Amino acid sequence: MQRSKIAGIGHYVPKNVYTNKDLSRFMDTNDEWIQERTGIKERRFADRLEETTTTMGVEAAKIAIDRAGITAQDIDFIIFATLSPDYYFPGCGVLLQREMKMKEIGALDIRNQCSGFVYALSVADQFVKTGMYKNILVVGSEKHSFAMDFETRSRNVSVIFGDGAGAVVLQPAQKDHQGILSTHLHSDGAEAEILAMFYPGAHANKWLKDKPAYPDQELGGLFLTTEQLESGAALPYMDGPAVFKKAVVKFPEVIREALAANSLSEKDIDLLVPHQANLRISQYVQQLLGLSDEQVFNNIQKYGNTTAASVPIALCEAWEAGKIKDGDLVCLAAFGSGFTWASALIRW
Ligand code: ACO
Repeated sequence: MQRSKIAGIGHYVPKNVYTNKDLSRFMDTNDEWIQERTGIKERRFADRLEETTTTMGVEAAKIAIDRAGITAQDIDFIIFATLSPDYYFPGCGVLLQREMKMKEIGALDIRNQCSGFVYALSVADQFVKTGMYKNILVVGSEKHSFAMDFETRSRNVSVIFGDGAGAVVLQPAQKDHQGILSTHLHSDGAEAEILAMFYPGAHANKWLKDKPAYPDQELGGLFLTTEQLESGAALPYMDGPAVFKKAVVKFPEVIREALAANSLSEKDIDLLVPHQANLRISQYVQQLLGLSDEQVFNNIQKYGNTTAASVPIALCEAWEAGKIKDGDLVCLAAFGSGFTWASALIRW
């Protein structure tokens, strides 16, 4: 079957840099705590009014399309992964289609959080393999800053996340040995609520059952009330230690699954680009797999965790730095809320 390859890659990060020290102006935290637990030194936050998840995705997409040697008019399908869309609906895919003046092509939104980009890449790969599309734009973009709380009550979450976008163009591979060798997708919803944002959501009233009812809730409840907002219920929730424990099991598992499916082993990996969840998680996974420092790429120190954007941003920076050459074996792996986890093995 026809393999797909990454023909162009780009990334965009906002220019506003916030160091750990900057965050300590808003909440009780410090550089030492953040670096020791997460490895993060600084992150980027989008312009509050001018930049959105879509506009950052567009900037990354322009570079990826240009590097693929095509124009926006040549794109025949869009897949957009994000957990921080511009609107509750419609999704960012159509907004990007409009912004980039693309043809009336299909646009699919994927909301698999930290593993969103690898899921999106897998979906795109299937479309190329079947011959349905020839130039698929896959975007991962996040504007976390708009939904984060910079008060001390949320410090375990808000020091971790940052904004940015990455994009690739997937095309049929020309050479037999090149392209995406396989993708592997998994989920386990048993612990869906340990890394989640409950509002706005159709299930939200369940979390309000011990709170006073509002008159209109007899008719189904308000989408989001001032009281809900003030209670902090619309903020992301994370049980950090539980996420850590699960991540360090599932990352190695899904990487080994990809290697086994292709009769390869850890020593064959030229570069592992893991989702930038937390530097401690990446280092632990590296140690479990017995990989050298040269075999693993991390840039969370500069950008924090950018969720669906983290893999394409890291992949793009690694490629721009000359760490990925033709013929290299590149492994992408991600784990996140859901839980969902995924890997992709690519012969560059
Ligand atoms: N600054 C200073 N102190 C803090 C901060 C902060 N930003 N955040 C929490 N603390 C305090 C807590 O209040 C607590 O204080 P206490 O002992 O007086 O109650 C103490 O630090 C320890 O809190 P924990 O939540 O137990 O902190 P932990 O040591 O587990 O570290 C962390 C938290 C970094 C989130 C860790 O659990 C972790 O790395 N988890 C993995 C989750 C992760 O990386 N998620 C990324 C997003 S999900 C994904 O991408 C897969």
